[in-house]
Amino acid sequence: MRVLVSGGAGYIGSHTVLALVAAGHDVLVVDDFSNSKPTIIARMEALSGKSIPIHGFNLTDVDKTERLFATEQIDAVIHFAGFKAVGESVAKPLEYYRNNLDSTFSLANAMANHGVAKLVFSSSATVYGEKAPVPYQETYEYLSAASPYGQTKVMVERVLSDVAKAHAGWKVALLRYFNPVGAHPSGEIGEDPQGIPNNLMPFIAQIAVGRRDKLVVFGDDYPTADGTCERDYIHVMDLAAGHVAALEHLGSMDEPVRAFNLGTGVGTSVLELLHAFERASDRKLPYVVGDRRPGDLAAYWADPSRANQELNWRATRTIDEICADTWRWQSKNPQGFPDS
Ligand code: WQD
Repeated sequence: MRVLVSGGAGYIGSHTVLALVAAGHDVLVVDDFSNSKPTIIARMEALSGKSIPIHGFNLTDVDKTERLFATEQIDAVIHFAGFKAVGESVAKPLEYYRNNLDSTFSLANAMANHGVAKLVFSSSATVYGEKAPVPYQETYEYLSAASPYGQTKVMVERVLSDVAKAHAGWKVALLRYFNPVGAHPSGEIGEDPQGIPNNLMPFIAQIAVGRRDKLVVFGDDYPTADGTCERDYIHVMDLAAGHVAALEHLGSMDEPVRAFNLGTGVGTSVLELLHAFERASDRKLPYVVGDRRPGDLAAYWADPSRANQELNWRATRTIDEICADTWRWQSKNPQGFPDS
């Protein structure tokens, strides 16, 4: 299939582009580079052995989006593009609602206008909110989110569900990621957050490469084995494979829309991840214990059985592989992707 990947220059998008090409699909990317650097494209082309057409604009531009679908042959869409920083969304809710919702409205409208009826959406475990029983299951129906970012995921899932039901033949997969981490085994592409990383893994990697001096562990008094929060860390290569599996499953899906958890089903604590990274980087990583971060939950992970069975997909990479691949990326690219 010829697949449009929105946000295809981003962390998960770029790894998914490589997996799509490796699976024999043709890919084109739309990305406004608001959270990624154009220098990633040359690396993606070198790794994939293919040229990757890039359309550099934001999907909230309705005219450009319409023109893209009018001029390009597109069979399916994987929609990653969107703002995704939880803390930033609390400070700038309107920007998050406008960007993440308007981009989806514009995309879905262009798809409907041009008979494109296959969509995989990048959703998040954050839609399970704070009361869902662990392990999280897709049948849980009381979706909610504490942050505006999470709310945009809840809302987009609802919008795409209604749009899929309104258009005969549409098939939509809503992929709920847990904690994406890791990097392509080549070390050529990986997570490159701009500014101070909000997330644990890139922060740890930057300590190991000397860009940060220590980790502040946000609380060690949680009701978990070692007192630190537990999360379901999934290798980005496993996540990318899950997107290809979901895309290729759409044609045989019975209902117009279906959610799938993409996780390992296993919880790993902050300190366990830190020590795994010490093993991978062969160095001591200093940390201090600080206050809990508001909004953090003690522990959650996926029940991935629906994706395992229906998509014939399973996360296979271990925490040690995740840390080894992350370290290879970060040590080869201490400052992340070059600006030019
Ligand atoms: C993991 C654990 C922190 C940094 C977030 C979003 C979620 C999804 C994935 C998009 C927590 C602890 C972190 C640090 C720490 N993103 N930590 N010191 O919060 O589970 O999920 O990213 O969909 O929506 O909420 O990931 O990596 O921020 O934190 O102790 O400097 O590491 O308290 O327990 P989180 P995270």
